[in-house]
Amino acid sequence: MKGKFITLEGPDGSGKSTIIKLIGDYMKEKGIDFIVTREPGGTKIGEKIRSIILDNENISMGPETEALLYAAARSQHVHEKIIPALNEGKVVFSDRFILSSLAYQGVGRQLGIERVKSINDFGLRGIYPDLILFFHIDPELTLQRKTLKMGGDRLEQEGNEFHKRVYDGYMELIKMYPENVKIIDATKSIDEVLNQSIEEIEKLLTI
Ligand code: TYD
Repeated sequence: MKGKFITLEGPDGSGKSTIIKLIGDYMKEKGIDFIVTREPGGTKIGEKIRSIILDNENISMGPETEALLYAAARSQHVHEKIIPALNEGKVVFSDRFILSSLAYQGVGRQLGIERVKSINDFGLRGIYPDLILFFHIDPELTLQRKTLKMGGDRLEQEGNEFHKRVYDGYMELIKMYPENVKIIDATKSIDEVLNQSIEEIEKLLTI
């Protein structure tokens, strides 16, 4: 596989989505062939699964069903978009990937990291990110931002305890799987967060 696979991870409200757009602008400027994608979603099938998962009407969804749906969307993403792009030598940026399921479903929903990992491994075809940018922000800060924001999807509506568990889950995962993870201080200004991210990307791509 000729391309490189870079994922952005972090709790809700850590600013990944803003930064991934700016990273895209930077890549364009540099003339590097890349794609930006996201999870859940990234493909037509995946976006349909995303709307089922995040729909506020689906309050009866069991945690195992939720985990399987995320894993199904991811498997389609790997099959239809990520592997073909990597084979074409592109740099693939994904807003969230496997670590999100391990933190949100494995720890947040208390299904267990290993169990969630095993259902995901089935659909991943051995694909693992070359670089994971972890956007670190204290959960107290994101929860404050969250309560200021009205509405939100089914996951965002979860209580503070859930989001604290997700944060703790990420911390545990970084210790368990430190390979390729770089911690970005997401409390800094957008410019600083972007610069930190680009520094890590440049190291990987040896620009
Ligand atoms: P999204 O609107 O993309 O949120 P964000 O901008 O924070 O990434 O919604 C995705 C939600 O789904 C988010 O709350 C995280 C959650 N999620 C999981 O619980 N498991 C997963 O595997 C993924 C990819 C996302």
